[in-house]
Amino acid sequence: MIIGVVGEIKPDEYRVGMQPSGVLQLTQAGHTVLVERKAGLGSGFSDATYQQAGGKLVDGAASIFAKADLIVKVKEPQHSELEMIRPGQVLFTFFHFAASESMTRALMDKGCVAIAYEMVRNHGRRPLLAPMSVVAGRLAVQEAAHYMTRPHGGPGRLVGGVPGIAPARFTIIGGGVVGEQAARMAAGLGAQVTILDRNNQRLTQLTEMMSANVIAVRSDPESIREWVIQSDVVISSVLITGEKAPHLIDRSMLREMKPGSMIVDVAIDQGGSLETSRATTHSDPVYVEEGVIHYCVANMPGAVPETATRALTNATMDYIQKLADLGWKAACQQDRSLALGLSLADGKVVSNAVARGFGWSAVDRDTVINQP
Ligand SMILES: NC(=O)c1ccc[n+]([C@@H]2O[C@H](COP(=O)([O-])OP(=O)(O)OC[C@H]3O[C@@H](n4cnc5c(N)ncnc54)[C@H](O)[C@@H]3O)[C@@H](O)[C@H]2O)c1
Repeated sequence: MIIGVVGEIKPDEYRVGMQPSGVLQLTQAGHTVLVERKAGLGSGFSDATYQQAGGKLVDGAASIFAKADLIVKVKEPQHSELEMIRPGQVLFTFFHFAASESMTRALMDKGCVAIAYEMVRNHGRRPLLAPMSVVAGRLAVQEAAHYMTRPHGGPGRLVGGVPGIAPARFTIIGGGVVGEQAARMAAGLGAQVTILDRNNQRLTQLTEMMSANVIAVRSDPESIREWVIQSDVVISSVLITGEKAPHLIDRSMLREMKPGSMIVDVAIDQGGSLETSRATTHSDPVYVEEGVIHYCVANMPGAVPETATRALTNATMDYIQKLADLGWKAACQQDRSLALGLSLADGKVVSNAVARGFGWSAVDRDTVINQP
C-alpha cells in the first residue's frame, strides 16, 4: 500500500503523524511511505532520518494526496487539504466532527473513508485520544500557572501559595483523562483542587487515587456554579462521545467569578464548553471576557511536539500497520476498536455519535465494513 505522511498546516501545529521508526516498520513490511519534505522538522525529525528509514521524500502535499491510498495526519483536514482528498482515500487522523459541520459535509462530498483517532474505542477507553489528553491535561496547568502571573496579564497569584498565604483554587469540570492529569499536576503544585464529574463510579475512583488536596464532587448545574465562582482557575475537560461539548458555563456565571480568574477550555476541540469560548492559537492563546481570562487552544499538544508526536504515534502505529497490511475493511472487521473509529465512508456517516451530533442518521457499521 502507498501511505502518505503530510506536514500539518493548522496554525502552530508542530506534531507529525508518523515518526521515522514507523516509516521503517512499514517499509520493512513492503509498503511505500511518501513523506512530505520538512513534515517532521517541528517534532525534531529531519528529512534525512525519514529517508534512512526507507521513506520517499516528496515536495508538497498535493502529490501525496494524489498518490497515497492511506493518509496519516494529526489534525483535522484544513480547507486546502479538503480539496486534495480523493474518493475512497482513507484518512486516519483527529477529526472532531462535532466542531465543524462544514468540514464533515465536505469530507462526505469527497467520498473518502474517515477513521477518527478520537473515536477509536477499546473497552470504554480511547487509546488514541488518551495520550493527547494526558498531554493537554498536564499542559493546562502549566499554562494556567503562566497566565496567572502579573506580567502575562493575570492577577499575580502563585498556584501553591506560600506559608501563610492560601494556594490557588482549581476547579476541573470533567474527571476523565484530561481532568485526572490536570488534577494531579495542580495538586502537585499545592493548589486546592475540586473535580466535578457526572459519573459516580469515576468520582469514587478519583477520590481513591488523589491526594488530600483534591476533592471529587458530583457535577450538576448548581455544583458547577458553586465551585466555578470561587475558583482562580477552571479547567473544562468534559466529553460526550462524538457530540458537541455541552455549554456548562454561561456569561452570567463569568460575571460572578473573581476578576483576573482564568478558564482553560480544553474541550474547545469539540466546540467548547463555555458560552464565551472561541478557538485560539498558540500564537495568540488568550482573550478576556467579563474580566475572566479565556485560554481556548484547540491543539494544545501541538506546542510540545517532541513529547506529543512520540506519545501519539506510539499509540497509532499498530492501527496504521493493520490498515496498511489488510486494507480498511478487513482491518475494521478484525479490530473492533478500529471499526468504532470509522466515522465516514462512501459519502455516508457510519458513526451514530457523529450523526446524532448533527441530527442526522447513520448507516449500519457492519454492513459497510462487510460489503465486498
Ligand atoms: N484542546 C486540546 O488540545 C485537547 C487535547 C486533548 C483532548 N482534548 C479534549 O478534552 C476533552 C476531554 O477529553 P478526555 O480524554 O479527558 O475525555 P474523557 O472521556 O476521558 O473524559 C470526559 C469526562 O467528562 C465527563 N463529563 C461529561 N459531561 C459532564 C458534565 N456535564 N459535567 C462534568 N463532567 C462531565 C465524563 O463523565 C468523563 O469523565 C475532549 O473534548 C477532548 O477532545 C482537547
